[in-house]
Amino acid sequence: MIASKILFHNSTILFCICTLFFALFYSSIKNRRRVKAPFVGYRTWFEPTFLVRLRFVKNAREILTSGYEKYKDGIFIVRRNDADILVLSNKYLDEIRLLPNTVLSSVASQVNNLVGKYTYASIMLESNLHTRVLQSQLTPNLGVYISKATVELEHSLKNDVPSSEGWIEVNIQSIVQTMVSRMSGAAFLGYPACRNQEWLKLSVKFSIDIFRTSFTLRMFPRFMHPLLAIVIPSRYRIRQHIREAEKIIAPLILEHREKQTLGAVAKSSSPEDVTLLTWMLDNATGTEADPTEMANRQLILTLASIHTTSLAVTHTLYDLCAHPEYFDPLREEIRNVFKDLDEKDLLRDCIPQLQKLESFIMESQRFNPPILMTPQRTAMRDITLRDGTFIPVGQAISFPSANIAMDPLVIPNPEIFDPFRSYYKRKQPGQERRHLMVLTDKNNLAFGHGKQACPGRHFAVAEIKTILARFLMDYEFKYPPGKGRPRNFFVDDNIFPDPSARLMIRRRV
Ligand code: HEM
Repeated sequence: MIASKILFHNSTILFCICTLFFALFYSSIKNRRRVKAPFVGYRTWFEPTFLVRLRFVKNAREILTSGYEKYKDGIFIVRRNDADILVLSNKYLDEIRLLPNTVLSSVASQVNNLVGKYTYASIMLESNLHTRVLQSQLTPNLGVYISKATVELEHSLKNDVPSSEGWIEVNIQSIVQTMVSRMSGAAFLGYPACRNQEWLKLSVKFSIDIFRTSFTLRMFPRFMHPLLAIVIPSRYRIRQHIREAEKIIAPLILEHREKQTLGAVAKSSSPEDVTLLTWMLDNATGTEADPTEMANRQLILTLASIHTTSLAVTHTLYDLCAHPEYFDPLREEIRNVFKDLDEKDLLRDCIPQLQKLESFIMESQRFNPPILMTPQRTAMRDITLRDGTFIPVGQAISFPSANIAMDPLVIPNPEIFDPFRSYYKRKQPGQERRHLMVLTDKNNLAFGHGKQACPGRHFAVAEIKTILARFLMDYEFKYPPGKGRPRNFFVDDNIFPDPSARLMIRRRV
């Protein structure tokens, strides 16, 4: 019995080792050059390609920097485990930004990055309902949805944040994730569904499991994915999350349909009465309103909105605690802006006026972006750029956004954390309406750029500023004794703050 167990154990290990070696060998031979561009990341001429790809997992930043330093006005290729990515100078952005997604597709890149076929993210390719709802309903009615989200912010402050007047150590990242899930839930599902604990847990767990599954699959060649997808536990959990989400979404769909039948809601309802879900139901075509598909799409939206937004809030708090001298000027700004609030409109009169706060967030994002390369696109057909650069169909392309943000020719003294940088730029004559977080340009790529830039960015910026304004006015933050700003972790081109990091918090009296 024991012998057979050992034998089984050993043969499993042997199988795993053989599989890994085969995968690595495959990745080494799969280096056909299709684009004329230099590869970066090799330490020596003899270094096997699979090692370069493996090093990219932890050292993407160094590899991209070495490419940027040599070829920042041209193009170069980085080798990620799943793909060779062509990195282009931002001088190409003027030409590329207006190309439609039938030529260069952002969504195809996201689906490839998430290995969509096995993580159910490929739903994004089937229709663009999730983008349409943000562009046609969320952004034009931002004030209404921010108000709905603010109610949940208050609820979250009461329920998720310790109210002690003494210092308490907390995992702020996890608190902010729940807070942002509640606020996004208010916009997407509306009240009371946004208070459903199961939904809140799902919105956080779905992102974690989709990242786990896609990172794991990306380590192996594509032909192994069908086999691996059967054995990866996080992939099972994604399916499970969609089933659970369907149990929450299906009754909401039914409720909306019943109200429609009774004539209680009309297509022309005011935005106050419309959730993003009901808008999606009213504007769905084909199978888009099918409960499973809708549950899947709602989870994809939580993935797009909650992860990035909560990272931005978390990083800003970490940077504030690392530079505590900025607490007071920011509090003063917030106090002035929110004075006589009863006579003011939150979105029109308050949020845009928090200019120092916005500048601080932008600087924090410059140092801690969620991703090193953005925008990313996949060529949907062969493309020849004006200068003759050829991009073959299927080629993944990207821009070295994190390097551009640290380039002294773009930003003077980029290594210095200067939180009011954008604020002072905006004070220059003629610059008042520029250098804002939502305004993408070829040097500010945090939200991508062009026609396919992040459709949720107006909501995101308003949400981040609202959360931080409340946090700063009602709480104090600092690092636990002997601790400083937590380090970031890199997985391929993604950046995450240390999930075990802690902050001290206490209620301001
Ligand atoms: C700090 C917060 C956020 C950051 C940094 C961020 C960043 C990005 C980036 C870089 C892209 C790709 C754009 C491109 O390729 O040009 C993107 C796409 C997207 N974002 Fe955001 N985002 C944030 C918040 C949000 C929020 C709050 C929502 C929803 C309300 C959202 C929804 C989306 C969607 C749906 C897409 C994909 C659009 C498509 O299918 O082409 N994002 N985001």
